[in-house]
Amino acid sequence: MNVGIDKMSFYSSDMYLDMVDLANARNEDPNKYLIGIGQKKQAVIPNTQDVVTMAANACTKIIDDDNRKKIDLIIFGTETGVDNSKSAAIYLQNMLGLNRRARAFEVKQACYGATAGLQMAKEYVQNHPERQALVIGADIARYGIKTPGEVTQGGGAVAMVISANPAIAEFDGPSTFYSDDVMDFWRPLYRTEAVVDGHYSNDVYVDFFKKTWDEYKEITGQTIADFKAMTFHLPYPKMGIKALRSIIDEADEEQQANLKKEFEQGRIYNENVGNLYTGSLYLNFLSLINNSDDLQSGDRIALFSYGSGAQGEFFSMKLKDNFRNDELAKSLDAALKSRKQVSVEEYEEIFTNWIPIADGDIKLDTSNDKAEFFLEGVKDHQRIYGRK
Ligand code: HMG
Repeated sequence: MNVGIDKMSFYSSDMYLDMVDLANARNEDPNKYLIGIGQKKQAVIPNTQDVVTMAANACTKIIDDDNRKKIDLIIFGTETGVDNSKSAAIYLQNMLGLNRRARAFEVKQACYGATAGLQMAKEYVQNHPERQALVIGADIARYGIKTPGEVTQGGGAVAMVISANPAIAEFDGPSTFYSDDVMDFWRPLYRTEAVVDGHYSNDVYVDFFKKTWDEYKEITGQTIADFKAMTFHLPYPKMGIKALRSIIDEADEEQQANLKKEFEQGRIYNENVGNLYTGSLYLNFLSLINNSDDLQSGDRIALFSYGSGAQGEFFSMKLKDNFRNDELAKSLDAALKSRKQVSVEEYEEIFTNWIPIADGDIKLDTSNDKAEFFLEGVKDHQRIYGRK
């Protein structure tokens, strides 16, 4: 049974901060951010968008009536949940008018949550090929003003429909995974910003990548030559380069050049949006299939998922005939290009007044938010969502 990604899309806010502006404000050489980190722009998420609305806005581009009937599993991967009890998946199900005879829940393990969802969805659809699953990775990455992590902030949502005989890519072979109790990055309940041991987290990421890659080679007998491209969880674009570099000598010179070229195409969306935690690997994958000119049906793409704390997983997908949807790719491009640039001062104000800090009723000014779904405010501790 061929199961995989039938549709995918993403949404991020319509505001961004330019990394040259941020570097200048922080007295850093802009090349540290542009080259050393690999980030050009960073999404700035207003209070009128949270993980629920961003997921809904990603879904509006792909969910149709057929999906509404067939989806009966909704898995929401996030580490920026809006409630400690009620899952973002239940809000989403209602907002999109999805089938109520469904299982809807949230999954958390740092940036790995969407991969956990994807693997569960795969097994579900393999057993029920007439059904479909909706998997979300949505987050807001927050480290704090004037912290080393600030340049790696961002946010957004990726949505994927998993089905039998998928249009985009099918799962191809086994997964290898590895987990260990590691304090590289975490988000204590009482904080709105992550605590991170940045350099250590880079090392753990590469270590988990190599462990899962080595095991994958061992159990499949495959080599780096079996992959057209490699995609990664990208907390910032340079992280993927570090992982790729750690194994690139296994490839011959021509393939080294090809893998590096594909990596450049794959990071285009990420370098404009920043870290969206659970969604970052899938944004890398989507950017690759929408932006690379060299891919063909049948090409095998590696995916490495990493979630701090920590969990890693390596697996592979094979591209199908209709892997690229040109119309959707154009509309995603247009959305990125039409974003409004904000100044460092505006970004700092938005960041500081993030709504989860507030307690009590709030009515938000939604007039500037162009998205279909948005947050109107909070009343009696309930989030009030609106739709254009
Ligand atoms: P830092 O200490 O400010 O930066 O923090 P640095 O001094 O290490 O410099 C960064 C790079 O820029 C270095 O390159 C410099 O050489 C280079 P590298 O050695 O890494 O190849 N550089 C320059 N390049 C060109 N021109 C220049 C220049 N100056 C310096 N003028 C750090 C960087 C990433 C640690 C920080 O931003 C941070 O803590 N970020 C957050 C943590 C993070 O993203 N970790 C990634 C792995 S963990 C993960 O992926 C999970 C995560 O997504 C969370 C989850 O799972 O939920 C984070």
